[in-house]
Amino acid sequence: MTTMSAPAEVHAAAAARLEGSALGLDAVIAGPGLSRERRDAFGLRLDRFYDDLASALAEIHPDPEVRAPLTARMVELAAAAYAERADELHTLDARRLLTPDWLQQPRMFGYACYTERFADDLRGVAARLDHLEELGVTYLHLMPLLQPREGDNDGGYAVQDYRAVRSDLGTMDDLRDLATTLRGRGISLCMDLVVNHVAREHEWAARARTGDERYRDYFHVLPDRAAVEAYEQTLPEVFPDFAPGSFTWDDDLDAWVWTTFNEFQWDLNWANPAVLLEFTEIILGLANLGVEVLRLDAIAFLWKRLGTDCQNQPEVHAITQALRAVTRMAAPAVAFKAEAIVGPRDLVQYLGTGRHAGRVSDLAYHNSLMVQVWSMLAARNTVLARQALRALPATPATGTWITYVRCHDDIGWAIDDRDAYAVGVTGQGHRAFLSDWYSGEFPGSWADGLVFQANPATGDRRISGTAASLLGLETDPDAALARILLAHAVVAAWGGIPVVWSGDELGQPNDPGWASEPGHEDDNRWAHRPRLDWTRAASRDDPDTVAGRVFGGLRHLAAVRARLPQLHASADTEVLQDTDDGVLAVVRQHASGTFVGLYNVSDQARSFEPHRLHDLGLTAPYDALGGHPLATGSMGLLWLPPYAAWWLVDAPG
Ligand code: GLC
Repeated sequence: MTTMSAPAEVHAAAAARLEGSALGLDAVIAGPGLSRERRDAFGLRLDRFYDDLASALAEIHPDPEVRAPLTARMVELAAAAYAERADELHTLDARRLLTPDWLQQPRMFGYACYTERFADDLRGVAARLDHLEELGVTYLHLMPLLQPREGDNDGGYAVQDYRAVRSDLGTMDDLRDLATTLRGRGISLCMDLVVNHVAREHEWAARARTGDERYRDYFHVLPDRAAVEAYEQTLPEVFPDFAPGSFTWDDDLDAWVWTTFNEFQWDLNWANPAVLLEFTEIILGLANLGVEVLRLDAIAFLWKRLGTDCQNQPEVHAITQALRAVTRMAAPAVAFKAEAIVGPRDLVQYLGTGRHAGRVSDLAYHNSLMVQVWSMLAARNTVLARQALRALPATPATGTWITYVRCHDDIGWAIDDRDAYAVGVTGQGHRAFLSDWYSGEFPGSWADGLVFQANPATGDRRISGTAASLLGLETDPDAALARILLAHAVVAAWGGIPVVWSGDELGQPNDPGWASEPGHEDDNRWAHRPRLDWTRAASRDDPDTVAGRVFGGLRHLAAVRARLPQLHASADTEVLQDTDDGVLAVVRQHASGTFVGLYNVSDQARSFEPHRLHDLGLTAPYDALGGHPLATGSMGLLWLPPYAAWWLVDAPG
């Protein structure tokens, strides 16, 4: 009689869970190609993550008749992807499993760009890696690069084929090669996965339009205007200007179809198990190319419920958990990033709270912090930011923020009315002020932004513009440079991965010719999506140029950050409440020591009481950014010059 090794027992236990499900698991992973060790490893993962999958699916599909075959098929897909995964990626999986906090480490520093606007195509990106390495980049987000529809495609967010790279950017092989090259240079590749909608020209939509019932069910097809209006009563508009409403009449369908964004972007019906299976395959395929982070685009909108705003529904988190569980079985190195640009109180759930804790996305955009950075700089005041950032629930230990000053999108003023009220202003009034300020309409404003999607019904006006233009680089270069570095210093030490938006590292202004490309004329977000100016980049090492000063400043932030263990994202971030109104004081207590970020968002010197640093645990406060100990000034206070950013830790031994 032979005795089973422990892993084999585990494998047997995992397989037993699926007994009676008609699952061909053994056929998939016990094939001749897979070593005993590989089979056992899969068995362990199946055992570990099966409950995550099953409980998530139970939330979406209470009916066991639907759920059982769906669960079995998802595991089968995971097993097949696992069996096909390259050796090198299995090694990466092992490495990430040994370092589960890899995304939280201070060495992480991100950059986001459009492939073609950065370097023409995927091979071009590989040839430009010096620029990124010099900046200190360890994480690269390439904007949508799968085959979109022709013509206007919302910057690639209207995907026609998830299994092909945009032909002008390269091929799937080029993508794999780039991921490999990046990995070799210590950079993780992040790419977009558009999950809420597909292009009207995608095969599923095309088939639906021919009357194929199977594919009609992939979408939200509504028979008449009454059904549309029932939803629209409670639905906000995302693009009120160029795509009003959330539904589009389609002659081929002879019905209304749900289109949250543009009319050519058809929302998917995630209540249909077939959609979940399609995306399981797509995700596992991208994982096996070597993509390390998947940005789940517009994830807040995945589940629709009559009588609600159809955002942030609980099922969204269950769907993410199911996809995450199968991805962890096949490719645990792969992380999920939630793109949920939602109000502060709905945000943290995307990092996993309650029953979804530790089971959904690893990363989410810190939209609230981004908005508060802009708000503080315009108001020269931190009172609202202190209130808003304090009111956020604690960040789940396994989750990490993407912190950012700018991204490819406009800035929407996600100021919570309750926070505004608590500090004696109105949400609407403050939002109007910010729009006026950043569009340059407010007297004394240094900003040069553009109004995006003005909504007369709500009074909302979002803002487009590069960091440099919004911070006044053309008006007052010295002050603007200080503001640019201050804004990036706040996000780089907040906790999470700071991500720099392409062009901002060189202080590039708005693209004056943004409207001249076909399909861009109605969408002024292209103003802040300039082609990277390589002539400007050539002076990135010259401190006498604007580009050199910005690039040098951001590179310094990345380098100092990487050396400070206190900036590990697992440390709690606390904002001190009773400080000077122009000062933001951020405290992070980590086992390796205390960190205090002091930021003066105003254009005048502001003070801070030195004894408070001692009370917080700093015995010999030292500014790691400036590289010197602190000196008190008049009245025994610390004086922060206008727009100063200090990263305080205990002086090195
Ligand atoms: C996300 C993208 C945005 C796009 C939208 C629809 O919000 O960031 O650029 O327009 O999704 O895909």
